Amino acid sequence: MKKKVKLKRVWVVILIIIVLLLAYPSILTYRIVSKNYSFNSVFDIVFKGIKDEVLANNYSRTVEVAVGSEDFVKENVTSYFAIDYVDKNDFIKRINTLLKVGYTTDNINLINNKMTDDIVLSLYDHDLIEDIDKYLEFDFFKSENLYRYLDYFTGDYKDTVVAVNIGLDKPLYEDAKIVTQFSETVLANKYNKLDETFEPVNITAIKSSCTKGTSTQYLSKVAQVAFEKMCDDALKDNMHILANSAYRSYDSQVEVYDTYLNLYGQDYVDNYVALPGYSEHQTGLALDVASRDYNTFKSSPEYTWMLNNAYKYGFILRYQEDKQDITGYKYEAWHFRYVGEEIAKYIKENNITYEEYYVMFLDK
Ligand code: DAL
Ligand code: ZN
Repeated sequence: MKKKVKLKRVWVVILIIIVLLLAYPSILTYRIVSKNYSFNSVFDIVFKGIKDEVLANNYSRTVEVAVGSEDFVKENVTSYFAIDYVDKNDFIKRINTLLKVGYTTDNINLINNKMTDDIVLSLYDHDLIEDIDKYLEFDFFKSENLYRYLDYFTGDYKDTVVAVNIGLDKPLYEDAKIVTQFSETVLANKYNKLDETFEPVNITAIKSSCTKGTSTQYLSKVAQVAFEKMCDDALKDNMHILANSAYRSYDSQVEVYDTYLNLYGQDYVDNYVALPGYSEHQTGLALDVASRDYNTFKSSPEYTWMLNNAYKYGFILRYQEDKQDITGYKYEAWHFRYVGEEIAKYIKENNITYEEYYVMFLDK
C-alpha cells in the first residue's frame, strides 16, 4: 500500500515537471513579448543566447534589429542596449565597426545623430577621434568640416569649430561661396562673394538731411528706415550722424577699389577696401557714416554715440579693433552694418564679430 502511494507521488512529480517543461517556452515567450519585442524576435533572442540580457533590460529597438541581423555580434549586446536606434542602412554593421575602432556608446549616439553618412563611413578607416564629442556638442558642428577641425585645432573646441566654419583655416578668397540671394542677414566677406548680379531689394534713397555731401545715398529699405530713425534720434542728442557712402553696386565698388589702389597701394586696399563682389556695401545694408562737424569720425562725439546706441536701431560696428584675423579688415570706426535689432544687441553684448554670429546661429 505504502509503495503504491510513493509511486503515485513520483508520477505526479514527473507530470508536474513535464507540464513545466512544456509551459516554460510559453512563459519565456510571454515575458519577452511583454517587453515589447515582436513574437518573431523571440526565437533569435533565445537561440542567440541573449534572453537574460533582454529580460534584465528595457526594450531596445537596436537589440531587436541586431538580433535579427546577420551582423549580430554577441559581445556587443551590452553596447546595443546603450545605442539608440536610427533608421540607417547597415546600422548594426555601423555600430560594430565604430565599437571596433574604439568609440564609446555615448559617442556613437552623438555620431549617429549629428554626422552625415559619408563622414561616418570615413571614420571606419580613421584612427579613433577620442574627443569627437567635444566637437559634436555644438549645434553648428558641420560634418563636412570634421577633418579641418582636427587639422586647425587651436586648443579650444568652440573657437576651432567657429573659425573653421567661417573659413579661417583657408587662404582668403579660396573657395569663396557665391551669394546670389538677398536677405537681411546676408554675409559678405572674403569667404562669401556676392555675385556680380547681386542687388539688394527695395533700394531706397536716404533723406538728404541724413547724408553727407550732395550725392544721394541709398540703402535697402529696411536699413534705410532704421538709419533715418537713428539719424533723427541722434539729432535730439545734438549728434549729427550722416551717411557718407552707403549702397555701392558691383561696378561702383570696382571704381572705389581702383581709386584707393592707385592712391594708397595694395597693402592699403587689402586692409581697408573690399575687392568688388566681396564688399558689404553691395548688400545695401552697410554704410560708412560721418559726423557733420568732424573730419575723423573716430574723434567725434558721434562715434561714441554710435558705440552706445547703434545696436538699438539694428546696426553693428562691423570691423572692430583687433578682429582683423576674423573680419579680414583693419579697424573701421565708420563702417556700420544693419543686421536687425536682436542680432545687433547680441553681437554688442557678447563682443563678437558678425562672422562668428553668422556661423553660430544663421549658417546651420
Ligand atoms: N571698406 C569696406 C571693407 C568695403 O570696402 O566694403
Ligand atoms: Zn564701408
